[in-house]
Amino acid sequence: MGDILVIGSMNVDMTVRVKELPKAGETILAQSMSYGLGGKGANQAFAAARLGGRVRMLGCVGDDDFGRKQLQALSGEGVDVSGINVDQTVATGSAFICVEENGGNCIVVNQGANLSCDEGYLSRQKEMILESDIVLVQMEIPREALYQAIEEASLAGKRVILNPAPAPEYIPDGIYRKLDYLTPNETELMRLSGGKEDLTGCTEYEEALKAGTQKLLDKGVKTIIVTMGDKGCGVFKKGYTAYYPAKSVKAVDTTAAGDCFNGAFAAALAEGMAEADAVEFAICASAIAVTRCGAQESLPLRSEVTALAAAAREAV
Ligand code: RIB
Repeated sequence: MGDILVIGSMNVDMTVRVKELPKAGETILAQSMSYGLGGKGANQAFAAARLGGRVRMLGCVGDDDFGRKQLQALSGEGVDVSGINVDQTVATGSAFICVEENGGNCIVVNQGANLSCDEGYLSRQKEMILESDIVLVQMEIPREALYQAIEEASLAGKRVILNPAPAPEYIPDGIYRKLDYLTPNETELMRLSGGKEDLTGCTEYEEALKAGTQKLLDKGVKTIIVTMGDKGCGVFKKGYTAYYPAKSVKAVDTTAAGDCFNGAFAAALAEGMAEADAVEFAICASAIAVTRCGAQESLPLRSEVTALAAAAREAV
């Protein structure tokens, strides 16, 4: 079994449930409000560990209740949190999440202590990168720091997975060449590749995906896995495309579905599953996550994922 290192954000999530997401300038009333633990980094580490991965995490929390709860929750799942920095000077990151009735969401993140996950901190933790087999990162920590970690991991021959969320307009070309896997959703893919960002109802959907992924493959990424919500996901390499359908479930909250996919995919690769099996495993895991509310509290157990995968196989 390989070792997974997740480098990324840890947040407290403040979630309101609403009928429909508000439009610009609109005030609406919420149906409920709840606090939970989140952050793309923490969610991915939690998912990978819960599914059986050997996981370490690097990132920063504040010296506050939310930070302490986050560390407890991660270590409760078996994540090694010994390298996580507790910053005395700033509060734990926070996310403000609106979830609408069909499960769709929008999220605003106040980075807080995640900004302390900088180049200096990650340089001091370089050993952890060198001791891992798979390095999984997202984009809620300072960019220069995560690019530095990607460079170091790649130079040391580690498998690198970048989940480009939230997606910037631009990632340096030199970074794309260091990635074994890039795992955007459709919107993130379109932003990174300079295409039309909203593909809702797009008649040339597959062409748009192919054009977007081709641009990034040309920059040197080995494999791009585009997560497409209830349409499943697509795997793109030079000269190769494969689509995997989603499992049919009733989504109540899509928060952390992408995180669940990434954590599950990393866990599956780390235990030696073939890529296609790892994608299928990750699809099953995220299908379960969307049937539950919240981020970390929605992440499935291994037994649930294997049961769904078995049921899906039988149904074929
Ligand atoms: O991907 C979902 C996560 O995004 C939430 O948990 C929130 O904290 C933000 O990081």
